[in-house]
Amino acid sequence: METLNVALGERAYPIHVGQGVFDRSALLLPHLRQAKVAVVTNTTVAPLYLQRFATPLRAAGIEVVEIILPDGEQFKNWQTLNTIFDSLLEHRCERSTTLIALGGGVIGDMTGFAAACYQRGAPFIQIPTTLLAQVDSSVGGKTAINHPSGKNMIGAFYQPRLVLADTDLLNTLPDRELRAGLAEVIKYGLIRDLPFLEWLETNLERLLVLEPEALEYAICRSCENKAEVVVADEHENGERALLNLGHTFGHAIETGMGYGEWLHGEAVAAGTMMAAELSCQLGWISAVDVIRIERLFERAGLPVSGPAMGADRYLELMQHDKKVQDGKLRLVLFKQIGQAVVSDAASQTGIAIVIAARSSHA
Ligand code: NAD
Ligand code: GLY
Repeated sequence: METLNVALGERAYPIHVGQGVFDRSALLLPHLRQAKVAVVTNTTVAPLYLQRFATPLRAAGIEVVEIILPDGEQFKNWQTLNTIFDSLLEHRCERSTTLIALGGGVIGDMTGFAAACYQRGAPFIQIPTTLLAQVDSSVGGKTAINHPSGKNMIGAFYQPRLVLADTDLLNTLPDRELRAGLAEVIKYGLIRDLPFLEWLETNLERLLVLEPEALEYAICRSCENKAEVVVADEHENGERALLNLGHTFGHAIETGMGYGEWLHGEAVAAGTMMAAELSCQLGWISAVDVIRIERLFERAGLPVSGPAMGADRYLELMQHDKKVQDGKLRLVLFKQIGQAVVSDAASQTGIAIVIAARSSHA
């Protein structure tokens, strides 16, 4: 097991990564404020892991409330969030009852937002069960639900008390979801960690076959990168925006195609290729660099172009991006591979050209 720390002062918390951390209740028990927890999960993850998680807690005298949500990005909304509040109230959960997110990024984002709101703030713990959630969404305290007009539009910054990332849980993850998670892993290399990108270029296949040591290394390295950025800029006034590489285009794809149609990581991969093309158009990176990025995504089985929604529709949806300032679109682009910047240098015409060139995917 490796342990990292998100050094946020009084709100600092550990991330334990490795095989078997899920079954070690001793890692979790010291973080509870009362002998009661509410575990939020979904209809896919519950049959796989809920009883395995709850049984030792109950044996240790902890009351475990089970909240099982429908599975899917299309349920990351007000209605589903409200069912969490209904259950918490029905089971008389208090402000000291810890909410535990057991699932992927959808469960993590919704549980975190519910915890931020419930009785003005209840403690919460992340137990991420997808690669994407283990390397990204469980760390850093972004919580949210979607709005029909835009991804993650309603939410809060609210940090967990603990993150437990068990690589063994990925053995049941569908291959497509594993590959989607790799998009966010590759992201760290592309924006700020060239040596990690080179490691990924050499070791990608070890991750695709779920080799535990390789997974543990990639998850730790990703979380180290994320923790450094979050500690420097928790509320995204600057550097944290770099973690949104490809997301302005990607969120437009997810919203435009209907939530759940394109996986988040797939949309991020296609969006990253658009950002790379734009950086090349601005003369910041070369065509060879673009091909290098494309090659890695292709090896990960990720799309390198977006769906053909029309550049105008993309641009309309992209106006809802949280980086828009005074009505002006700002994008994460590459100064070079391994060094991203937030920039408003691209023109509307330039962006439209890139979208047209990179949106042929069926
Ligand atoms: P997800 O939560 O929808 O999970 C993917 C699928 O895998 C679901 O069907 C889920 O039920 C299933 N699943 C989860 N764990 C499993 C397991 N171990 N075995 C078998 N099946 C399993 O998707 P995701 O990719 O984890 O997360 C995407 C979400 O995360 C998006 O909503 C995105 O906006 C959000 N996100 C948030 C942040 C953040 O910083 N908060 C960062 C990145 C992404
Ligand atoms: N996933 C982007 C962030 O946490 O800032």
